Amino acid sequence: ADAAVVPALVIGTGYGGSVAALRLAQAGVDVHMVEMGMAWDTPGADGKVFANTTNPDQRSFWLRTRTKQPLSNFLGFPIDRAVPRYTGVLDAEDFAGITVYQGRGVGGGSLVNGGMAVMPRRELFGEVLPTVNPDEMYGNYYPRANSELGAGLVDPDWFDTTEAYQYARVGRKHAQRSGFPHVFVPTVYDWDYMEQEAAGTVPKSALAGEILYGNNHGKKSLQKTYLAKVRATGRVTISPLHRVVSVAPASGGYAVTMEQLNTTGDVVATKQVTAAKVFFAAGSVGTSKLLVRLKATGALPNLNGEVGKGWGDNGNVMCGRANHLWDPTGRLQSSIPTLGIDNWAAGGAFAEVAPLPTGIETYASFYLSITKTPNRAQFTWNAAAGKVELSWQTAWKQVSINAAKSIFDRINAKEGTIYRTDLFGAYKIWGDHLTYHPLGGAVLGKATDNHGRLHGHPGLYVIDGSLIPGTTVVNPFVTITALAERNIERIIATDL
Ligand code: FDA
Repeated sequence: ADAAVVPALVIGTGYGGSVAALRLAQAGVDVHMVEMGMAWDTPGADGKVFANTTNPDQRSFWLRTRTKQPLSNFLGFPIDRAVPRYTGVLDAEDFAGITVYQGRGVGGGSLVNGGMAVMPRRELFGEVLPTVNPDEMYGNYYPRANSELGAGLVDPDWFDTTEAYQYARVGRKHAQRSGFPHVFVPTVYDWDYMEQEAAGTVPKSALAGEILYGNNHGKKSLQKTYLAKVRATGRVTISPLHRVVSVAPASGGYAVTMEQLNTTGDVVATKQVTAAKVFFAAGSVGTSKLLVRLKATGALPNLNGEVGKGWGDNGNVMCGRANHLWDPTGRLQSSIPTLGIDNWAAGGAFAEVAPLPTGIETYASFYLSITKTPNRAQFTWNAAAGKVELSWQTAWKQVSINAAKSIFDRINAKEGTIYRTDLFGAYKIWGDHLTYHPLGGAVLGKATDNHGRLHGHPGLYVIDGSLIPGTTVVNPFVTITALAERNIERIIATDL
């Protein structure tokens, strides 16, 4: 063990962690960021950093020997395949009742996500963060987050004419014909770059189907935004392939124990540093798992009973519709969704019109719905098994299915179409086994105070999606970023 002492240690390099590190460094604080995933800054043998969705390889999945693709089937046939065990970029983390997809690597979820940068409608903000003043969020922190993340809208004229968004235009037409409001959603993809992809003048990323396993060009992941600024401060060190396993009080702050991993996931070294302040930014699941275990095993005994509670799936549910032959969705589909159908007020669902970038005509419309659900799960420590469990039950998704049906049953009736049954199994309509949007587990104002300070242990903070009690009513990363901006501003002003 080395004897280094750092003023601030950040666990995780996703949205919350990147915001914390940047603002602390800009305030003159030296920061150590610890990330269990890889750096993702070096091309593989094929000259690319990331693998394509159509051809997953070892880079695609976190420590699995078989892929676990969110769409497990095509035309009813399973499409998963063997891959070498490797510290790949997408984790499909299995709990008893749900598989939680997460990014692994420097940049966290920004490496794998769809880049949809959506703010909740202001009148719904009370459903998201009831203890936060919406004026400060919509007046200050949302604009700051959007600007730092580089969120922007597609040029509607280009959208209307490009082959790559035919699938979204079909989705829009069907929504319109059934009377549903639809919206363009901003994304963090570089739209000029995508237009050049379409023109054939630059290497393709969104138009080559890159998304779940990383984008090689075009998407402004955190590596290109917050983390580029973090590096420019010269005050931040980042340790990839290091997993934090313990945080416990020590003289001068907290002793943080971490395991260094090799690319097959074996522990090659154990290290300890002392940090005056520790920011938990390991994501909703990562932070919750750490806090629940550290409380239960006595490392952080004073954490309160709210730790592990209030976890939700943002109501995620997926489905496909089978279109008529006169409604093809296109062989070329941009992997970046940019159109949403908003039926929150009437039916509790906000659906994104999602791509199926298979490279062939599928006549399918595919949707990821974010729905209103009352179901919240809890993380608990199973001492006998030595692991943290999550109480989520698959049957709880029925509420979300019903909300999604409030849109798609009506569209199917209007269009004379049916659901696809071949994407999630043989004869299975609903993708109800997963979430992309884990939220909660260390809820703001419950496990922490109203700015993320953990109760019971001064100097420990939560600054990621685990602060948000289960829903953001739209895609979450802009809200996670804006909340982190709000909280770190206060913490820097009063705690340093
Ligand atoms: P985030 O998960 O980003 O970062 C946590 C980091 O901590 C990870 O890098 C992890 O490896 C690391 N870590 C965990 N445990 C650790 C430990 N013990 N030690 C060290 N490091 C540890 N959202 C959106 O708004 N629009 C979208 O289009 C999409 N699309 C989408 C698609 C897919 C496939 C996924 C999986 C997710 C999305 N999302 C999304 C969700 C979005 O990516 C997600 O909400 C945020 O990344 C969460 O940000 P956080 O900062 O909370 O954690």
